[in-house]
Amino acid sequence: MAPGTKIDYAERIPNNVSLAENRRLLRALEEWQPRFLHWWTDMGPEGYQAKEAYLRTAISVDSKGWAHFDHVKMPEYRWGIFLAEPEAGRQIPFGAHKGQPAWQEVPGEYRGVLRRLIVTQGDTEPASVEQQRHLGRTCPSLYDLRNLFQVNVEEGRHLWAMAYLLHAHFGRDGREEAEALLQRRSGDPDKPRILGAFNERTPDWLSFYMFTYFTDRDGKYQLCALAESGFDPLSRTCRFMLTEEAHHMFVGETGIGRIVQRTCELMREHKTDDVRRHGGIDLPTLQKYLNFHYSVSLDLFGSEISTNAANFYTAGLKGRFEETKKPDDHLLKEASYPITLHDGDRIVTREEPALTTLNERLRDDYIADCQRGVDRWNAIIKKHGIDVELRLPHRGFRRAIGVFADVRVSPEGRIVSQAEWDARKDEWLPTEQDAAFVQSLMKPVIERGMFANWIAPPARGIDGKPLDFEYVRLD
Ligand SMILES: [Fe+2]
Ligand SMILES: [Fe+2]
Repeated sequence: MAPGTKIDYAERIPNNVSLAENRRLLRALEEWQPRFLHWWTDMGPEGYQAKEAYLRTAISVDSKGWAHFDHVKMPEYRWGIFLAEPEAGRQIPFGAHKGQPAWQEVPGEYRGVLRRLIVTQGDTEPASVEQQRHLGRTCPSLYDLRNLFQVNVEEGRHLWAMAYLLHAHFGRDGREEAEALLQRRSGDPDKPRILGAFNERTPDWLSFYMFTYFTDRDGKYQLCALAESGFDPLSRTCRFMLTEEAHHMFVGETGIGRIVQRTCELMREHKTDDVRRHGGIDLPTLQKYLNFHYSVSLDLFGSEISTNAANFYTAGLKGRFEETKKPDDHLLKEASYPITLHDGDRIVTREEPALTTLNERLRDDYIADCQRGVDRWNAIIKKHGIDVELRLPHRGFRRAIGVFADVRVSPEGRIVSQAEWDARKDEWLPTEQDAAFVQSLMKPVIERGMFANWIAPPARGIDGKPLDFEYVRLD
């Protein structure tokens, strides 16, 4: 491990950025810390603040640093500031400044946009904690409850990560923005979170797994693009956040996989597709939830054609997914990229300049990644000898942002009339009755080693512990 990367837990704010040597910054963050805790106790997991959960804490930022597990009360979690190790001699990998040394300080000309990028990312972190705060009440097992809390404390730490950048690099406006991150509230009409998906409700555990699979995965792709940034502190912050994000998507993928598993078991056992009568979630309902969460998450990538995206790239602030692995010129001035859009009532593909279509390219990487999990769920269905497949709906389905926002597109990718949409949308999206049914299954299961009837137990426990381990201490 390189020197200086060890996380100092002796400090009030654990960090690997030598915070103690920067008194001004330390003081500012020590003022922010109690306000963060106040937000956490107010808006974090409801009803469990005094309980001990078996949580992991980073002990260092290298790949082996993820090993410390212990029972802790969430308000005592060691949130802090952890940046991935610096890369010696790192250069800006793309855009107009390509080849120059990576910036250690904010370049003056990009101050405003860079701050906006950080605030937009930062805002999603506390938002998801707020969206998920009531779920503890209806957990399907202690194992799942613990996973929820792990996701929540790590989103809290991601908030720390962004607040640190704002405090350390953006002076007074940075401090104000860090404060505002604690003031907005998911779903609040007066002070909503910035992005649409983060104002939706996460009312049940099916939604939670869909959210962690699809929406946290948007987070992964945004972080991957920001990890390429020429602004080195942002790059290093995002690189470490990505190691935490992987667990969130694991929770989503295995959560949905376990529901699919259980649904198939019930279908076989009772020789019926209608597993609702047997307390399971039927495959058509799973498909509708998938359609909803996927389409909401696609919108997070923004418009297919975006001069903002082009500007972020040319400025060297936000790259492509795996930018440095791509064999092109990393300037993209001459290149083009195919995008999907509609021409009247036909859906067509058209070459557009590569720079203005960067959102769509990132969305394409995301879609391919989403498909991998769907394939694994379908393998579970197939293994049970059931002839049904879950599908990602067409990218134009139920979009509120971009070229498809003004048309209605069916899940198969056909432009349909408003009348057809109205007549069929209940086949495609969760209805109130579907939501009420799913809600009716949400009864807490808190006996050790027990799991709700609608979800199969996981293949293995956390940190090598058995399934009946006391993942959360409820007494
Ligand atoms: Fe996050
Ligand atoms: Fe996440």
